[in-house]
Amino acid sequence: MPEDNSKKPIRYLSGVQPSGRLHLGNYFGAIRNHIRLQDQGECFYFIANYHSLTTVQDAEQLKKFTFMAAADYLALGLDPAKALLFRQSDVPEVAELAWLLSTVTGMGLMERAHSYKDKVARGIAPSLGLFFYPALMAADILIYRSDKVPVGQDQIQHIEMCRDMAGYFNHAFQKEVFKLPEGVLSEAPKVMGLTGGKMSKSDEASVIPIFGEPAEIKKKVMGIVTDSKGVAEPKDPDQNIIYLLYRLVAAPGEAAGMEKGFRQGGMGYGDAKKMLLSKLEEVFGGERREKRKKMDEKPDLVEDVLVAGAQRARRTAARTMEQVYEATGLPSSKIKKAVWTAGT
Ligand code: AMP
Ligand code: TRP
Repeated sequence: MPEDNSKKPIRYLSGVQPSGRLHLGNYFGAIRNHIRLQDQGECFYFIANYHSLTTVQDAEQLKKFTFMAAADYLALGLDPAKALLFRQSDVPEVAELAWLLSTVTGMGLMERAHSYKDKVARGIAPSLGLFFYPALMAADILIYRSDKVPVGQDQIQHIEMCRDMAGYFNHAFQKEVFKLPEGVLSEAPKVMGLTGGKMSKSDEASVIPIFGEPAEIKKKVMGIVTDSKGVAEPKDPDQNIIYLLYRLVAAPGEAAGMEKGFRQGGMGYGDAKKMLLSKLEEVFGGERREKRKKMDEKPDLVEDVLVAGAQRARRTAARTMEQVYEATGLPSSKIKKAVWTAGT
């Protein structure tokens, strides 16, 4: 009889790289969605520390950013009783699976990746790891049998590549080992940064960190460069970073008020910046900032969450890998264990 999948919860999976402080683009592009989804399905979220090694090559920095990303998630409302949060490298089988996927993946597919080209154009070293990155991301998605992958716009092509790789693998080994995942975009899939392009961890000047110190955030917001139009002059809100960010944090009616003020004239840049600043404080200050500070005081609590999450994630990964070993002819985990324990 065919398996009845109608009652199976949807599995959501996503990762963020610990390559800098998490910012408003991460939050409105992905993390807010991740946290909402914890009430709608099975959620697997991880800190992609293997991926970050393509840009962060400093052990202390990597550990610090990994802790900060996990602490930010928890302060923003991720509930470990509902969603798994773990470190990518605590399930090292993903790196093994990435290799196996690479053996069935054509160079042509990899060469079409925009993100590789964009990163190299921005000055990131064109290492083999950076090029291989979509294969590791595909392994992350496939190893946990994910149905849906909530991400920002920049990751959609990687999910398409993952679907291709899953298909190549199933075809090459004549077995439906992997199911094909789907990307899910948030309402803000491409948040603009303070320097004009996309808000991105690799450009510190472009970001507003979610949990930056109030003085730093104030400096960043008040320092946003604008044209020299006076208060009374009409202005185009559509390309205006102050309004675009305000729209994310304010209620719809408040955002409409600022938009109208810009279009008709009467809304000055200075006042708009102050409105943005006060909304940012309202949303991310107060209780959330307090909760985030507590994580710094009790790092063991964060570590416990990550370990418990990885233990559960690893069990799922191990089941998938067993099927992968069988399909490919690699030795099963039982044989591996016998090898590892022999003579000890
Ligand atoms: P990263 O910082 O590259 O690890 O991204 C983590 C998640 O945030 C991914 O789902 C990205 O697509 C998303 N993301 C990163 N920057 C932005 C942005 N400027 N706008 C929307 N989503 C973003
Ligand atoms: N590449 C993603 C990013 O830079 C992070 C990531 C790694 C990821 N593995 C993933 C996202 C799997 C979704 C699914 O944002």
